Amino acid sequence: MNVEGIIIFDRGWTRMNAELELHQLDAGHAVAYQSIRLQALRDSPTAFNSSYEEEKQRSISEFADLLVPSPSRGIFGVFDASQLVATVGFGREIRRKVNHKGIIRGMYVAPKYRRQGVGKQLLSHALSFADSQPGLVQLTLVVNTANISAISLYEAFGFKSFGIEPAAALIDGALHDEMHMVRLVPQAI
Ligand SMILES: CC(C)(COP(=O)(O)OP(=O)(O)OC[C@H]1O[C@@H](n2cnc3c(N)ncnc32)[C@H](O)[C@@H]1OP(=O)(O)O)[C@@H](O)C(=O)NCCC(=O)NCCS
Repeated sequence: MNVEGIIIFDRGWTRMNAELELHQLDAGHAVAYQSIRLQALRDSPTAFNSSYEEEKQRSISEFADLLVPSPSRGIFGVFDASQLVATVGFGREIRRKVNHKGIIRGMYVAPKYRRQGVGKQLLSHALSFADSQPGLVQLTLVVNTANISAISLYEAFGFKSFGIEPAAALIDGALHDEMHMVRLVPQAI
């Protein structure tokens, strides 16, 4: 089920191959988003600073609020039929002095769909969305230094490390270092 390329449709979604579609999520996807988000926090606890225990307390309407699209944020997902199998989010600083900065977060591909190019297509789509935002100059993200697969993915899209925060997260009694990465928006440099 390799991803063979993408076809952009004008209904707000993108067919990635015969089976998978890429959408920008909206409030109507709240139930599916809650489900994959809780799955991500359960199966990859060291990949995120948020915890399953905290997010399972969130109501569906809180998840729906996160999904309301605007030029300053977007959450994108890949669907296999009606099942949401991968997500990534873009957010932008609101305050005037830092409004040129954006963040990539919540990158997750369900285990069955990994190593098939899904993460690459999804991140590429989110970066295109970010790069098209007027005035955006840089994107940052934070990744656990032990997460070699995610670091390789980000490096492939031009993210570079600008520092390691030691003991950045305490997860189940173990301390984890985190890498801070930045990518300048091509049109801005
Ligand atoms: C990291 C993750 C998003 C990658 O998604 P994916 O769909 O498997 O990635 P792709 O198949 O598109 O691979 C893209 C690139 O990522 C890197 N990569 C992905 N999996 C890798 C692995 N197991 N080992 C090394 N590099 C890997 C490679 O550079 C790969 O490019 P290549 O295939 O040309 O070598 C996925 O493994 C995941 O969801 N992990 C758990 C959650 C997580 O760690 N999120 C990141 C939070 S910062």
